[in-house]
Amino acid sequence: MTAINIAIDGPAAAGKSTIAKRVATTLNMIYVDTGAMYRAITYFYLNNQHTFSDFDTMIGQIDLKLIYDEQKGQRVILNEADVTDYLRSNEVTEQVSYVASQDAVRTYLVKVQQQLATDKGIVMDGRDIGTTVLPDAEVKVYMIASVEERAQRRLKDNIERGIPSTLAQLKKDIAERDAYDMNRDISPLIKAHDALEIDTTGMTIEAVTERIIHLAREAQSK
Ligand code: C5P
Repeated sequence: MTAINIAIDGPAAAGKSTIAKRVATTLNMIYVDTGAMYRAITYFYLNNQHTFSDFDTMIGQIDLKLIYDEQKGQRVILNEADVTDYLRSNEVTEQVSYVASQDAVRTYLVKVQQQLATDKGIVMDGRDIGTTVLPDAEVKVYMIASVEERAQRRLKDNIERGIPSTLAQLKKDIAERDAYDMNRDISPLIKAHDALEIDTTGMTIEAVTERIIHLAREAQSK
């Protein structure tokens, strides 16, 4: 069996992480949520932005690691502290695309992400995985869904997490974040030329998961 990496990209709240986690569990691979890494740096930025004048200096103060907890899954360790539980707040969500558009931030995180995937066996989701982080990934998927459906899904997640939000606000936030991510200068959100596009609008989680597992098994058997 060939060892493979799987890259899953797409706009905000398209269901990437739910699907990627299931694919990773079924195939006994490791799931890497790169959005959480950008969120962790944004969390640091929000708490420390007055202490440095540029992003290069800020990145010099950051040491970011991922660890895996049997029960809780991926945990993000920022300068020795587990910050995972702070990363989905509205404050972080509002600023993350701005922080993620900075060259120093992307250069640092792409390197960390590429190191994680050198030995293969990784399912990584984000915005630039198939284009920039893992251009040689054996399976590449670009997942999309209507803004309406994505906002509905995010509202459900937020209610479960106790994060205050409304459908109208989520639709606006999702559309704005997509526009920012698609129009930035460095590694904008775009479908890799060799990625399979899956429109998950109206599809069940099981059906999307099955589709990707099928692709992965084909790649593993090559
Ligand atoms: O996936 P999630 O919604 O948590 O990502 C948060 C933000 O992080 C995205 O809107 C985007 O600005 C940034 N991001 C990125 N590249 C990635 C993953 C996330 O620019 N690979």
